[in-house]
Amino acid sequence: MIIAIDGPAAAGKGTLARRLAKHLNFAYLDSGSLYRAVALNLIISGQDENNEDGVIAASKNIEPSLLEDPRLRDEATGHLASKVASNKIVRENLLHFQQNFAANPPNGEAGAIVDGRDIGTVVCPEADLKLFVTATADERAKRRQLELEQKGIAANHENILSDIQARDKMDSERATSPLVQAEDAILLDTTNLNAEKAFQAALGLIKPANLV
Ligand code: C5P
Repeated sequence: MIIAIDGPAAAGKGTLARRLAKHLNFAYLDSGSLYRAVALNLIISGQDENNEDGVIAASKNIEPSLLEDPRLRDEATGHLASKVASNKIVRENLLHFQQNFAANPPNGEAGAIVDGRDIGTVVCPEADLKLFVTATADERAKRRQLELEQKGIAANHENILSDIQARDKMDSERATSPLVQAEDAILLDTTNLNAEKAFQAALGLIKPANLV
């Protein structure tokens, strides 16, 4: 059983996917963390997106410890992740891991929830249920700002908003696996929903698919 959750940056996909996975006893994969790990690999070795060989090498060598590194969540890492994610070979290198996780969830779980940008369209086009989770850019920026402030990091709304808009543009306009709602995905707009209401709304969408 596979649930694909796609949507733009800071739309609440991760929070929702984690809650659903816990509720359903499914395994959860945050595919964005893989692209962030490629970016962090580059940052650690002092490289940037302009050295294509370095970018490709960084996508072949993702140590599991990198996925636990707190720097993975930095805004700079997310921004660079969005740049390296437009590379076709990087995407190919990460595809097999994601597909294998979805088809064979670890620890014998009955299903997998994978969130990202292209899960319903490219990684798991055969998913049993596809959600496209979104919210206005302004609302997403407010949430990201709150999240940063809760971590004690000073955050400026306008800067966050422009970064989110830049990432939306890069993710939606790239040639390979752009961010797009799959034809058979259900749209969940969380602009006016808190995390609890978004969870309840998603459960309501999952039930008719006989997943619960
Ligand atoms: O979801 P998150 O913001 O952590 O993802 C970081 C970046 O990784 C995104 O901006 C996007 O460019 C890329 N990504 C992707 N495909 C996915 C997941 C993430 O291109 N399935």
